[in-house]
This record gives sequence, C-alpha cells and structure tokens, in this order.
Amino acid sequence: MNIFVTGGAGYIGSHTVLQLLKEGHDVVVLDNLSNSSEESLDRVEELTGKKARLYVGDILDKECLDKICSENSFDCCIHFAGLKAVGESVEKPWEYYNNNITGTLNLLAALRDHNMKNFIFSSSATVYGDPEIIPITEECPKGTCTNPYGWTKSMIEQILMDMAKADSDWNIVILRYFNPIGADASGRIGEDPKGIPNNLMPYVTQVAVGKLPKLGVFGNDYDTPDGTGVRDYIHVSDLADGHIKALKKINEKAGLCIYNLGTGKGVSVLELVKSFEKANGITIPYEIKPRRAGDIATCYADASKAKRELGWEAKYNIVDMCADSWNWQKNNPEGYR
Ligand code: NAD
Ligand code: UFG
Repeated sequence: MNIFVTGGAGYIGSHTVLQLLKEGHDVVVLDNLSNSSEESLDRVEELTGKKARLYVGDILDKECLDKICSENSFDCCIHFAGLKAVGESVEKPWEYYNNNITGTLNLLAALRDHNMKNFIFSSSATVYGDPEIIPITEECPKGTCTNPYGWTKSMIEQILMDMAKADSDWNIVILRYFNPIGADASGRIGEDPKGIPNNLMPYVTQVAVGKLPKLGVFGNDYDTPDGTGVRDYIHVSDLADGHIKALKKINEKAGLCIYNLGTGKGVSVLELVKSFEKANGITIPYEIKPRRAGDIATCYADASKAKRELGWEAKYNIVDMCADSWNWQKNNPEGYR
C-alpha cells in the first residue's frame, strides 16, 4: 500500500515508517521538522535499504497538502503530526489548538477533496482524564483533560467521529496510546527530546548518561502500592506494530474504530527505575519531590479489544523497554545531533 505519514520524522512516526517499509509498503512523509530531524529517516533508510519520500512542509499549509495529495494516490494516511508537550500547551494554548486542530482539519479537507478517506489517528490515554475505570476500556467515558494538549486530542476525536457519522466512506481508526518508551533494537532511532525532558524515561536515560544529576520522583503519596504514579509503558516498536495491524482493519472498511494500545500492566515510577537499574546495571540516583500539577495516580489499559479485533498485543516487557531505551541513549548521547 501507499501510506501517507504526517509527523513521520518524529519518535513514534519514524518507528512506524521503519515497520511500514519492512512490511513492503511505500511511504510518503510530511513533516515540518519542528520537533525532529531528517536524520531519523536517513537512519530508517540505512536499516531497511528503502527510502520514504519526505516533503518538508506543514499541515497548516493547505497548498502544500493539496500538492502532496495531487502528486500521490494514498491508500491510507497515518496522522502523527502535532505538538505534544503538556506543559508548553498550558503556556501556549493558541499554538496548540491551531497546530493540532487547524492542522488536522486542513489535512482532513485535503484527503476528502482527493477522495482518500482512510485515516489512522494518534490519540492518547490523556482523553480519559482521571479515569473512572481501571484498567481503562474504550467504553470508559472520556474525561476532563487537564491541559490544552489533551483537549486537542479529545476534540480531534470528536471531529473524526462526527465526520465518520456524516460520511460512511471514511474509515477511521483512533489509536489511544498509553506511555510509549523504548527504541528500535538497533539503537539507531529513538526519542530525542529537545531541552530537559518532561517524560520519565528520557529523564532516566539522561541521568544514566550523566547529562542530568538525579531524577525527581513527582510524589510518593499517591494511592498506589508504593505511592508513586502508575502508568502503562509500551514499547514504541509494539506501538508501531499496532499501526500495521490498524491498516488491516482499515481494509475491512469498518467505519470508525477506537483501540487502546497499551500492555495492560501498570508500572510505578520506582518500579520503572528498578527495572532500568536491573536491565542495564546502572544506578539511578533519585529524590522524592512534590506531586506534579495535573498528574493522576494510576492509568493503565485494558488492551483486550485490540487483541480481539486487530490481533495485536504488546510483545515487549518493561525490562526490554529499559534495555532498548538505554541502548539508544548510550549510543546517541546527543540524540540525532
Ligand atoms: P514527535 O514530536 O516526536 O513527533 C511529531 C512530529 O510531528 C514531529 O516530527 C514534528 O516535527 C511534526 N510536526 C508537528 N507539527 C507539525 C506540523 N504543523 N506540520 C508538520 N509536521 C509537524 O512526537 P511523538 O512522540 O512521535 O508523537 C507522535 C504523535 O503521537 C503525536 O500526535 C502525539 O501527540 C501522539 N502521542 C504521543 C505520546 C507520547 O507519549 N509520545 C502519547 C500519546 C500520543
Ligand atoms: N515522573 C516523575 N519524574 C519525572 C517525570 C515523570 O516522577 O521527571 C512521573 C510522573 O509523575 C508520572 C510518571 O512519571 O507518574 C509518568 O510521567 P510522564 O511524564 O512520562 O507521562 P504521563 O503519564 O504524565 O504523560 C504521558 C504523555 C502524555 C500522554 C500520556 C498518556 O506525556 O502526552 O502519557 O499517554 F497523554
């Protein structure tokens, strides 16, 4: 198939492009490189011997989208492009709503105008807010998001649902990711956050590589077994595989479907630190800090719907994820730079 991947130079996008090329698909990427570099796609080419065609451009640019859709015939669009830093979204809400929502509306219009109505969207467990049910099923009502970034995901989901309802030609798969970590086993591609990382695993790997002195653990008084926050960490290669499986669902022309992509296992901050130490033989110094605003105690998936309907389930465990995150970081202490 010929697949259009927006945001394909980014962390999850590059791992998905890698698997798409390995599976024999043709790939066209659109990325404005605002949070990534072409180097990730060069490395994907090195790993596969195949090239994804890159358009450096913006989903806010309607002419650019029209040009790409005129020059290509796509079987499906996988839409990763978006801004994703939770804290920054609180500081710059307009930029987040504009980039993520206006950008997605532009993209959907271009695809509709060119009659290419197969679409996979990167959503997030953040749409559940503080979840009413644990483990979280797709039936769990969407909740109150604690930041503009989360609202963009929730609102885009609503837009997609309304569009699918109005026009049955659309086939849409919404994938709600839990907490992606890890890197391709080659250590050639991985997560490359700019500045001081906000997320747990890149912070831990930067402590391990000596760039940061110690980890701050945000709160040890949550209602969880050891008091620290519990999340469902999922290997980015498993996540990429979820998109391959979602493509098969798209071909069944099932209308709009929603799936959680997680392992179904909750891991606390301190458990993750211990797993990292065990997997890699490195001690991670840490100190307990106050809770971070907006954080919830526990969030993990019931991923049985994806298993049942997509034939997808996570293969990697937390030790694999820790080993692969470290393999990437130690071989690329400065990321792609
Ligand atoms: P990323 O920042 O590495 O990748 C996003 C890519 O989109 C980047 O390459 C960036 O340059 C590009 N981009 C941003 N705005 C653009 C625009 N206007 N036009 C063109 N390109 C643009 O992030 P990621 O972690 O790979 O996330 C991919 C998607 O998955 C995002 O939509 C994100 O919100 C979603 N998601 C991520 C997580 C996570 O924890 N990483 C969790 C849930 C959902
Ligand atoms: N944490 C620390 N110290 C840190 C960073 C994080 O203790 O330096 C803790 C957090 O308090 C939380 C856990 O580690 O308990 C995970 O935090 P992350 O920031 O790695 O991930 P979140 O669950 O807060 O959020 C991430 C993405 C969101 C996405 C969500 C669900 O940042 O965009 O996963 O998919 F919506």
